[in-house]
Amino acid sequence: MEDQTQLLRKRVETALEAEGSKARTFCVTSGKGGVGKTSFSVNFALALANRGKKTVILDGDFGFSNVNIMLGKNAKYSLEHVVCGQKKLSEVMEESYPGVWYISGGSGVAELLRLRGGQMEEMIQQLGELEQQMDYIIFDTGAGINGNILRMIEASDQTILITTPEPTSILDGYVVIKTASGLADRPDMSVVINKAASEREANVTYHSLADVARKHLGYELSMLGFIPADKRITQSINSMEPYLRQYPSSLTAMQIQRIADHVTKLQPVKRERGIYSFFRRLAKR
Ligand SMILES: Nc1ncnc2c1ncn2[C@@H]1O[C@H](COP(=O)(O)OP(=O)(O)OP(=O)(O)O)[C@@H](O)[C@H]1O
Ligand SMILES: [Mg+2]
Repeated sequence: MEDQTQLLRKRVETALEAEGSKARTFCVTSGKGGVGKTSFSVNFALALANRGKKTVILDGDFGFSNVNIMLGKNAKYSLEHVVCGQKKLSEVMEESYPGVWYISGGSGVAELLRLRGGQMEEMIQQLGELEQQMDYIIFDTGAGINGNILRMIEASDQTILITTPEPTSILDGYVVIKTASGLADRPDMSVVINKAASEREANVTYHSLADVARKHLGYELSMLGFIPADKRITQSINSMEPYLRQYPSSLTAMQIQRIADHVTKLQPVKRERGIYSFFRRLAKR
């Protein structure tokens, strides 16, 4: 068993050294719930796909998995089937629209973070393969901050914190920033202001968070963009067809496209972060 584990580890390392992993991993998170993480993740992935990029969304919200609902698709399998060894990661990925895949998490996300030994090595290999195939991996998390979400933040190259201009959402967002700032390796964090009445309101909201984070935590947060409040986002969720597909040339869609444009121009990721590196570190503990 030990020999097999070592063999697997060697294979993974050789494969990754040869090619270098390439996907950039985002963790989409928030303090308060219902601020638009899932709708952002889905439409952001579609905007990346419009730019010829391959994106997989991993539904990391074990309580209420709903990425598939917003994509209007049904998931047959979830990460649970992978963790218990019934399926390969590639077999539970569903392509919802060209260039946009998703993986339902179920309780599999929490289990994944607890794997050890040979099972962990097997999973690391599969995650390594996923990082090779995809341009972007998005973890759509549940609201709030707990151990599992912190692990997902640690496993990502970049964290996207979503907040609305509401004071409670900003305050709860700050709690996430404060908790993340205590991690040994501070995550690279940027903010998206959702449901903004205007660009001005979005900027004010961003500054009310970023200035406090800088002053009290010495933490620099960048602004990735903003999305206007738009009732049609809710309508498109109800009709189970993503907003970006229904209203591709609206002002709201333009803001989402701007975020995707910005992201595609980012420098390639440094390899000490990312899910593959993260799980390797976890395996060595
Ligand atoms: N820009 C927007 N304008 C108006 N409504 C929006 C906007 N973005 C999201 N919503 C609405 O807010 C609600 C919550 O959205 P969503 O489910 O994406 O949030 P969430 O942060 O993923 O929630 P949870 O914390 O439960 O996972 C939905 O009804 C959605 O239609
Ligand atoms: Mg959600």
